[in-house]
Amino acid sequence: MKKDFLSIADWSTDELFELIDLSKKIKKNPEDYRQALQGKSVATIFEKQSLRTHVTFDVGIYQLGAHPIYLTQADISLGKRESVYDTGKNLERWVEGIVVRTYAHKTCTDLAKSVKVPVINALTDFEHPCQALGDFLTVHEKMWSFSGKKFVFVGDGNNVCNSLMLFASKVGMNFVACTPKGYEPDKNVFKAASAAAKKMSSTVQIINDPKEAVKHADVIYTDVWASMGQEAEKEERMKNFKSYQVNKKLFSLAKSDAIFMHCLPAHRGEEVTNDVIDSKNSVVFDEAENRLHTQKAVMVKLMKEV
Ligand code: CP
Ligand code: NVA
Repeated sequence: MKKDFLSIADWSTDELFELIDLSKKIKKNPEDYRQALQGKSVATIFEKQSLRTHVTFDVGIYQLGAHPIYLTQADISLGKRESVYDTGKNLERWVEGIVVRTYAHKTCTDLAKSVKVPVINALTDFEHPCQALGDFLTVHEKMWSFSGKKFVFVGDGNNVCNSLMLFASKVGMNFVACTPKGYEPDKNVFKAASAAAKKMSSTVQIINDPKEAVKHADVIYTDVWASMGQEAEKEERMKNFKSYQVNKKLFSLAKSDAIFMHCLPAHRGEEVTNDVIDSKNSVVFDEAENRLHTQKAVMVKLMKEV
């Protein structure tokens, strides 16, 4: 039984499929879960901006009968006003769960180690596991299976890419990260994903050429070129990522029924053009909706017995 949801690496293939199944049940019959976390409280700490994650956790917590407490950097300032440990030791006396969006992944894992209540990673510089879970529910709804399908991530080998790569490899989907040289995903994550893929008889590749990468793709996914916290690098990144834009021409090289995915927020005209993100192949708002159902599943799984 897992205590926390911090990294896709910590969850087995069976556990990830169980989360997808539970998400489908909750999505189909939300009324059955109205009291799943009745009377509980959940602290949601956001040290970075958020639309989707903030709203879906708030709404999801209410829909499960619990109460969210939203805390920003201006309120608590993790590790600055007081230590991460002390913040956690206070919070665990009052709440049954903690959701945290922060910078260093270590802040998130340190917090989880300090407390007895579940901690959910709502994005760090290293991973975005809630995003990956919502996205793979979306892929499953559209394709009904993962095995043998090709998932291509085009752009920056960032937090979202790391979580997607781990998830794909654990559920047996072939994964390609297509990035400019120097922006490849984390080496250790690639190693872990490759080991997981081997067990599932699937593949994980890193390719620098976008045209080569998207051939026969079932899914093309992209994300912003400069993530939150990398604002100072934006100009340099714009130049380095220019030929990694997902536009109609690149998208047309994938399978004709390929879907387009993006975690959002999108920078239209940069990593993706309007004719792709607004096309009939785009499922970006289904992904956003599924954040709600999948995060409710994670909370039910982790917090029901707390
Ligand atoms: N995709 C996602 O996590 O969006 P927010 O940053 O708006 O939460
Ligand atoms: N990679 C992006 C994802 C936002 C949801 C970031 O970290 O800013």
